[in-house]
Amino acid sequence: MCGIVGAAARREVSAILVEGLKRLEYRGYDSAGVAIIDGDGNIGCHKKLGKVAVLDEAVLQQPLAGATGIAHTRWATHGQPSEANAHPHVSADQIALVHNGIIENHEELRESLTAQGYTFNSQTDTETIVHLIHSKITTGLNLLDAVNAAVKELEGAFGLAVINRDEPETIICARSGSPLVLGLGIGENFLASDQLALRQVTDRFIYLEEGDFAEITPDSYRIWDKDGAEVEREKLHLTDRAESASKGKYRHYMLKEIYEQPDVIRNTLQGRIGKDQILEQAFGTEAKAILDKTKAVQIVACGTSYHSGMVAQYWIEGIAGIPCRVEVASEFRYRKFVVQEDTLLVTISQSGETADSLAALRLAKTLGYASTMTICNVAQSSLVRESDLALMTEAGPEIGVASTKAFTTQLVALMLLTVALGRRRGLNKESEAEIVQALHGLPTLLEETLTLDKPIHKMSEAFAEKHNALFLGRGAQWPIAMEGALKLKEISYIHAESYAAGELKHGPLALVDAEMPIVAVAPNDELLEKLKSNLEEVQARGGELFVFADKASGFSSGEGVHVISVPHVADVIAPIIYTIPLQLLSYHVAVLKGTDVDQPRNLAKSVTVE
Ligand code: G6P
Repeated sequence: MCGIVGAAARREVSAILVEGLKRLEYRGYDSAGVAIIDGDGNIGCHKKLGKVAVLDEAVLQQPLAGATGIAHTRWATHGQPSEANAHPHVSADQIALVHNGIIENHEELRESLTAQGYTFNSQTDTETIVHLIHSKITTGLNLLDAVNAAVKELEGAFGLAVINRDEPETIICARSGSPLVLGLGIGENFLASDQLALRQVTDRFIYLEEGDFAEITPDSYRIWDKDGAEVEREKLHLTDRAESASKGKYRHYMLKEIYEQPDVIRNTLQGRIGKDQILEQAFGTEAKAILDKTKAVQIVACGTSYHSGMVAQYWIEGIAGIPCRVEVASEFRYRKFVVQEDTLLVTISQSGETADSLAALRLAKTLGYASTMTICNVAQSSLVRESDLALMTEAGPEIGVASTKAFTTQLVALMLLTVALGRRRGLNKESEAEIVQALHGLPTLLEETLTLDKPIHKMSEAFAEKHNALFLGRGAQWPIAMEGALKLKEISYIHAESYAAGELKHGPLALVDAEMPIVAVAPNDELLEKLKSNLEEVQARGGELFVFADKASGFSSGEGVHVISVPHVADVIAPIIYTIPLQLLSYHVAVLKGTDVDQPRNLAKSVTVE
């Protein structure tokens, strides 16, 4: 996704801006640009296709003097990657703007601005914003009031920063659906879409909240909330300990990463959902053509990522109504199979470098798949570079070998893909709105679910002496049970298996005795009664049950049954919520057993060999 940097200082800022863009390179981008107001009050602008290094070279060859400026790395949504489409966009040589997000009503705005005499130089949705702001300025407003008036007319998602030749010391920024952070200096202030871009100039930051807009000058900053009231926001002093590559207050990376899930899911949703619908353009410029022709989906992945693919199979067939198959990459790459016409091949991977998944992608390209897409957490990775489309998860660096936050962000990305495919197969607006509402509420529900940590810690004591465990689920919760079993075996070395609960009677029931804890995930869905019958079969054979159940599902703790109540959630997001207690259970069991939680024996984070 796009990166934004801005600086209002009393020294030359071009090098600061370009360095900020370099620090955002990890996110992936296709073009970059910078605009600076010089001492005579003129806006100088360079835009280049490709790497920030190309822009850097242009700035070296033709320096842009000045102490107030904005810069941007673009990840194309509306219009191909090109210099004309790169940001900053400029209106009447007076206003320059950078934007991260998608403006849904850009067509109407373009029409009305064209009627007012504005000429468009790009195919972007962003250019409408800069002309809209300029049109407000021509009515006599200053930049702050013009931005404020203009954003009221925007529908969609934006983080934006704007400069005005006539107010050469000021930058105005606004956020709604895309992140922005202010960086505070002495006699200079900054802004960016990610604090990482500004670490070379400051360690003091203020994160803007949803709907906020702000003004920075070298000596001041002011923030207003969505109602226009001036507000103070918390100042953060970020020391190295606060950076994501440290454990912070947590004993292990895995625990920290479990707790990061509400935030990283917020980040993964940012700019990709509007009030009632998903913002499909955020998938990239080629997405529409690819999704339009997709008649079937083949998912390929390994390990935890394979489990997210299995959940997606329930969603894509159940919600989008098109055939979906899922297979582990190590099998897929060596098997003979039939490729259905117009099938989209989707790889899912945290690292983007897993050898089997990469080999599967390369093989698929020779076998007649219509297009390829990856759902991935590392922007510069091989899978991203070699796929037609990339839908990035925004989990941030995941250090613990056992994957946690990468998994749940993959599920979120897969739900967005499901809706995008469903739209083309009769998923109506009401149903889409219900799913989007559920996604909006997801981070808060995850926070609530994390408060179960203490009772789960207590529950984990019952597992410490056990050698085996069985995990059960039905429907889309079956892969969640599989992921729960994988987590437990990866980090506690307890042998754990997972079954679709209905399969119990076909074999695993023979294993059930007091020494075999049975873990079940039991949301209040249409399969609940079936699951209950399966669990009664366990109890009748003296098995001890550990059930994660919806408050309303009618389970209660008693002899041989331990129940933890999980918040009530909509069916569509239940797999994401029920993942959390299983992650916590494995974590606490591993800590009790004294294993190396973050680097379990024999396992690697990124498996780049076959
Ligand atoms: C390794 C890791 C797992 C991961 C799997 C797939 O086995 O230990 O946590 O799920 O690789 O990795 P990927 O990066 O492709 O998601």
